[in-house]
Amino acid sequence: MSDVTADRDGTRCVRAGLPEAVPGEPFLPGPVFAAPYHLDPWAGPAGAPNGYGRSDNPTRRLLEAAIGELEGGDCRVLSSGQAAITGLLMSVLRPGDTVVLPADGYFSVRAFATETLAGIGVRVLFVPTVGPYPDLSGVRLVFVETPANPGLDVVDVRALAARARAAGALLAVDNTTATPLGQRPLELGADLVVASGTKALTGHSDLLLGYVASRSVEVLAAVTGWRDHTGAIPGAFDAWLAHRSLATLDLRLARQTENASALVRMLAGQPRVTGLRWPGRPEDPAYPVAVAQMRRMPGVLSFDLGDADRVARFVDAARLVAAATSFGGLHTTADRRAQWGDDTSPGFVRLSCGVEDTTDLVADVAAALRAAG
Ligand SMILES: Cc1ncc(COP(=O)(O)O)c(C=O)c1O
Repeated sequence: MSDVTADRDGTRCVRAGLPEAVPGEPFLPGPVFAAPYHLDPWAGPAGAPNGYGRSDNPTRRLLEAAIGELEGGDCRVLSSGQAAITGLLMSVLRPGDTVVLPADGYFSVRAFATETLAGIGVRVLFVPTVGPYPDLSGVRLVFVETPANPGLDVVDVRALAARARAAGALLAVDNTTATPLGQRPLELGADLVVASGTKALTGHSDLLLGYVASRSVEVLAAVTGWRDHTGAIPGAFDAWLAHRSLATLDLRLARQTENASALVRMLAGQPRVTGLRWPGRPEDPAYPVAVAQMRRMPGVLSFDLGDADRVARFVDAARLVAAATSFGGLHTTADRRAQWGDDTSPGFVRLSCGVEDTTDLVADVAAALRAAG
């Protein structure tokens, strides 16, 4: 056994969750498609690790081992990011509890809070990602999204974790935009990580996935029970695709960050581009906290083109920018968030950098801006 340290990001991604090498077997075993499994007629379900597909699937377990290794906790995968977030909220919160949620985060979480949580007697406080956070005494769960989608503000996780712990509250961090290579909330003191694996984590725009990661046995048991009872599981093929895609996370993020950095430099000099945001830009209000707690910057940035028509002209003129929601994929995409009901101005664009060559992408975006007038 070599004593060389093999724990850098690229190495960790390539090896995460893989079983021990066995001659004649593949590196990543293929997806196991099963609803029921054969049972031992005498021992029943206790006699084997797999009894029924809703609770047990070896492909899913390998993916959970991989994400858990990267996040630094144990992991449960669910059928989408939204399934993971709502599953976490419903597992942890009870009528009479108070939860703090981001006022400027992913809009479906706010909709779930007002339409479902409030209806079962949970008190919901919406707080902007940058704060100020209220007195947390009596709060059961503080849930933050950092960097927040789509505004890209960040919150100091270490400081908030200390405040939550002192008040007896749990802290959950939505790590979708950063990914576990960009930030490790459990090491920063959070109790829970929750994320959409649909975005940069898997990065190929071909599946939906969510996960919860934690070092708390009780919370994970509650989430596992919730998943078993609601059936919010990813299928075996999606779990296998996700695991295969995870191996290139380090490479994909490296290019996405490089592209974001180059685009931000170009966009900063454009007179008709306002409100440019990227946590990796030294002039950005999020920069000081972002560089202190993040390991790398995301490939997502945002800016304002003034009005909806100008955004449409820009995207139409671009060869390398597709109009699409979601983010973190191989292809560069632009999303005008107001069309989904986000509280953003009509010309606000969230741009997600893909892995195209940086020179090509910058030239294409610059030409499309010129064409948009
Ligand atoms: C920050 C964040 N969290 C959660 C979600 C929900 O993820 P999914 O679409 O996989 O359900 C999204 C989706 O855009 C998101 O941006």
